[in-house]
Amino acid sequence: WRLFSLLAVMTVFLSACGEEYISTLQPAGAVGKEQFNLLLFSITIMTLVVVVVSVIYLYAFVKFRRSKVGEDHMPKQVEGSHVLETIWTVIPIVLLIILAVPTLTSTYKFADVAAMDEVDENNEKVALTVNVTAKLYWWEFEYPDLGIVTAQELVVPTGEKVYFNLKAADVKHSFWIPSIGGKMDTNVDNINKFYLEFDEESEDLKDGVFYGKCAELCGPSHALMDFKVKTLSPEAFDTWVASMKDTEGQTADAESTDLGEATFAANCLGCHAVTSVTGMPTGAAMGPNLTTFGDRSHIAGFLDHTKENLVKWIDDPEEYKPGNLMSGKYNELSDEEISAVADYIMSLSVEQ
Ligand code: CUA
Repeated sequence: WRLFSLLAVMTVFLSACGEEYISTLQPAGAVGKEQFNLLLFSITIMTLVVVVVSVIYLYAFVKFRRSKVGEDHMPKQVEGSHVLETIWTVIPIVLLIILAVPTLTSTYKFADVAAMDEVDENNEKVALTVNVTAKLYWWEFEYPDLGIVTAQELVVPTGEKVYFNLKAADVKHSFWIPSIGGKMDTNVDNINKFYLEFDEESEDLKDGVFYGKCAELCGPSHALMDFKVKTLSPEAFDTWVASMKDTEGQTADAESTDLGEATFAANCLGCHAVTSVTGMPTGAAMGPNLTTFGDRSHIAGFLDHTKENLVKWIDDPEEYKPGNLMSGKYNELSDEEISAVADYIMSLSVEQ
């Protein structure tokens, strides 16, 4: 009963998380749904085992309790039983096979990425591919066939398979979008591949996004290493792609001062790319790509998207994300310069 009450509490707790769509128990895509069904199936089998074993245990307790015959009565002594041993060896083996077959089938199905390289008659890739690079403590998303690189926000169309090449730049991380599917390790030495499917547009969700997490302990800011997933209709996705490639439309607005732009160019561009200034970098830059930073929902992945927070972040990143690679680099900037840089970065937007 303790186990059951614990499970009940966990269910309530997990369903409370549901509103933000960060739960495996609230699947929103074909892969997530299949993983959820697999979870239910395994729990059902395991619950049956617990029930059957408990019943037999209680039965033995009652049936073989001390009898009233008398203190000196010696019950019949049994030593070994081939029949029983065979039964309780075969049953778990059968159960393990029943659990293993669908688990392995699903695992290898999602890792079947042969369609990733398919091309149409114009020799253009059919499937959408995203190269994911996990870094301390942020995520880079590169769309190799579209020439786009984003950071912290993954934008994908609904209704098609999206193929992922996963790798890490520094230490081992793990890519997980709980309600969509995963998780899959990102390693430094090899590329892991799988696909996910996004069924619902994220616009109507509580925060307008699905939440993604790093699911492998990677350092002091592991718990802060998350990302947002925006799922768009295919038409809206095409519009987004066009806006990301339209560097004209991305230039900072009039409110941003020359000081901000100059300070940014002198101190930040070495690590952070901005498409309207640098062009779309083909590979990974040191720090997150800040193109369209003004349109993002969070700063550093979790701070509210306000100028005050951005100033605090630039002033002392270590305070907010211990161990991140930007820490301790910009202490020499004056308050005026930091404020101007923050204005400039906040004005980088394609939604002007
Ligand atoms: Cu990256 Cu945990």
